[in-house]
Amino acid sequence: MKQPFFYDITLRDGNQALKKPWELKDKKVIFEKLLELNVQGIEVGFPASSDMDFEACKALSLMAPDNLVVSGLARCVSNDITTAIEAIKEAKIPRVHIFMTLSPFHMKYVLNKTPEEAKKIVIEKTKFAYEELKKVNKNGQIQFSVEHFGDCEDNLDFVIDTLKEVVQMGATVLNLPNTVERHRPMHLIKMVERVRNEIDDSVTISVHNHNDLGMATATTVESYFAGAVQLECALNGLGERTGNTNFYEVAVALHNSGVDVPVDLSKIYETALIVAQMSKVPIWEKAPLVGPDALAHRSGIHQDGALKTKDMEKGAYRPIHPSLIGRKDDERIGFTSQSGKTAIFEIITKAGYPITLQEAIRIAPIVKEAAEKVGELPSGRIIDIYFNETFNIKGDFKLKEFKHIKNGEFEFDFTHKSKEFNIKGIGNGPLDACMNAVKEAGFDVQLIHYEQSALDEEILGSGSTAMSVVQLKGNGKEVIARARHSSTAVANIKAIFNALNLLYK
Ligand code: KIV
Ligand code: ZN
Repeated sequence: MKQPFFYDITLRDGNQALKKPWELKDKKVIFEKLLELNVQGIEVGFPASSDMDFEACKALSLMAPDNLVVSGLARCVSNDITTAIEAIKEAKIPRVHIFMTLSPFHMKYVLNKTPEEAKKIVIEKTKFAYEELKKVNKNGQIQFSVEHFGDCEDNLDFVIDTLKEVVQMGATVLNLPNTVERHRPMHLIKMVERVRNEIDDSVTISVHNHNDLGMATATTVESYFAGAVQLECALNGLGERTGNTNFYEVAVALHNSGVDVPVDLSKIYETALIVAQMSKVPIWEKAPLVGPDALAHRSGIHQDGALKTKDMEKGAYRPIHPSLIGRKDDERIGFTSQSGKTAIFEIITKAGYPITLQEAIRIAPIVKEAAEKVGELPSGRIIDIYFNETFNIKGDFKLKEFKHIKNGEFEFDFTHKSKEFNIKGIGNGPLDACMNAVKEAGFDVQLIHYEQSALDEEILGSGSTAMSVVQLKGNGKEVIARARHSSTAVANIKAIFNALNLLYK
């Protein structure tokens, strides 16, 4: 199978559909991006459409690298053709792209011509374009497009006969556009296959699919497997009405199908953002690959699968690894009422705070309740809940004061429900003394694990903070609780009281 030839039409079909078509300086930016993507051909514009476009086509032709096909569009009209030649002749490989409809409907109602009249014009103008172009550039190429090819099912024999003559006149690329997408992909693919089988192998068959029913990518990808080597695509799917075939989707779909795609896929994401900005056509939230939501997971099941396969090339709920298209932002976990513990664990850990799965399970209902009211919660809100619910656990135990009396001796003032306690605790440090005081107050609890660390000052944006984590057993439960304070001793005692409030809930 031949390598696909990526022929970009952003600067022509994409541009002609913009509310404010690009000037040369804008076209230059897009042109550079296309070179970075390593496309094989660029249709730089429609030179006869305006002086501005003529100048832009001329300037871009001069900037083109030697191996790039630079193409200018022209109707089957002598003046369009000579203007296009004048605009692109300085490129190393200039191509004049002429087009005319051969669909019965369009010939009759739009062109007002009989098929014979249309065929005659096409053949004459192809010959004219070929001869004029070869006079000024020996490398020149002619591409002919059957506008509305998708509507030519009933006169396909006539179209193929015309195409054979067009090839005789010097065209080496035959483009078969689905100018308006009206049917399922197979409708066009079968027609493309037929043309491929009837036209000499030395001629390149091309497809150019509009996206009126949202299937342009599928039609283009499958047309490649049916023998179309040149694939006409536009960045961000720009183009008339619902646009042209999306470049990124075709490139990635072929890559995922094992095709050797001659495009630098890693430039896709950055290009998409620039094109959105320059075209003022924002990227739809749900746009495949490059949309803000393309890597967002909101349901608990999807979040779990996504996180388990995060670093793997194949992901549980994504078609590619984001790095393939140069997308740096990881799969995004968006917390809604549909999300769960895994998302909380991930969001808090990613923000740089410590959390155990047990804690995430405990606070999940509280976070979910907040999300039920407002929808997707910003991570700042989840972090606030995490701080309130893990560092300051409210309950029946309230520590009022604790004092260091002398070596190994402390005094604890606390209440449980309405009962007041003032207990002297003896022990090897405040933590041990506090545990002994709690036991003396009649609560049978055991310290299973204890850890102390410093919370990252940068994250908290405050002075140094000690964090204590305790694991306590009692009242038939086992819990983990934490607390933070500038004093290690206070952090320890507060962590115990947080744990007690969880044990005796
Ligand atoms: O959609 C179309 O048919 C076109 C042609 C000019 C190729 O854009
Ligand atoms: Zn088009």
